[in-house]
Amino acid sequence: SGLMPVLALETSCDETAVAIYDGERGLLSHTLHSQIRLHAQYGGVVPELASRDHVRRVNGLIRIALEQAGLGAADLSGVAYTAGPGLIGALMVGASVAAGLALAQGLPLVAVHHMEGHLLAPMLEPERPVFPFLALLVSGGHTLLVSVEGIGRYRVLGESLDDAVGEAFDKTAKLLGLPYPGGPHLARLAEAGQPGRYRFPRPMTDRPGLDFSFSGLKTAVATALPVDADDQQRADIARSFEDAVTETLAIKCDRALEATGYRGLVVAGGVGANRRLRARLADLATRRGVGLYFPRPEFCTDNAAMIAYAGWARLADARPADGRLFTTARWPL
Ligand code: KG4
Ligand code: ZN
Repeated sequence: SGLMPVLALETSCDETAVAIYDGERGLLSHTLHSQIRLHAQYGGVVPELASRDHVRRVNGLIRIALEQAGLGAADLSGVAYTAGPGLIGALMVGASVAAGLALAQGLPLVAVHHMEGHLLAPMLEPERPVFPFLALLVSGGHTLLVSVEGIGRYRVLGESLDDAVGEAFDKTAKLLGLPYPGGPHLARLAEAGQPGRYRFPRPMTDRPGLDFSFSGLKTAVATALPVDADDQQRADIARSFEDAVTETLAIKCDRALEATGYRGLVVAGGVGANRRLRARLADLATRRGVGLYFPRPEFCTDNAAMIAYAGWARLADARPADGRLFTTARWPL
């Protein structure tokens, strides 16, 4: 299971990414092209434009990834791709190219769930969590608390009933007049804000359970925001919003750790790059005496390194599961 380089493609949304991982040498290369500038003028991702740009970029990125790794296509042991969830047209670009490469080289094809990639991303860091652990997955499309018992053994303990956390960040950022994608912009604005100036709800923390709801928080911001808000008020609101989200996530993580007795907490997905969230969860982990594991910030947001790791782990585990070629916009973990 060592020298088994797996090349992976990630094209589920607005990043075209290629990476190569093997068990012996670790991550051999990773490349990425972000479409943020392409979509910014529309205030969100335009699916048709995303698909077309993936087509333009993907072959060049594969060439770069192979070059960086010092490998030819014939040296590969498998090809992995993100099969879903995501934008269907965008997913089909990665799936088709992966299938073509696998067919040409006679290699196994591994379909990877995008959120499995996110939750295994900390495995790319020097200090890795051991199974079983709790994973908080916070991205633009998903908010999940997952019990991770092993590769392919995932149990969803809680999820958002409406907006994902990243979506709440992006919508709130839009209200505050910030560009897309708003999460990192809102976090920067919050740095200048004073804590405690606004009191936003901690949704669903007053009742038992591990599910989330973030759409009301966005509404609370819309209500609190004066039409003629000055920069300081906007920063104060950003800070209080961030604190409300962070506190809500921490409360649910605390509960899930209590319920499972697990000794490790993984935080991944785009919002996992948020500094205040990281600090709050570090407090929680210290207080509980559990290990806290984050991917480096560039592997919190979408990337192919995490898909390469997941694909490699599936092959190494002889749990490649799905050699079928398929894509799916919706796919429970
Ligand atoms: O995982 P990801 O790159 O893509 C999805 O699979 O959705 O997550 C993107 C989300 C966006 O909503 C973005 O605003 C948010 O992650 N995000 C952040 C930060 N960096 C990215 N939200 C808050 N603070 C950040 N520093
Ligand atoms: Zn993602």
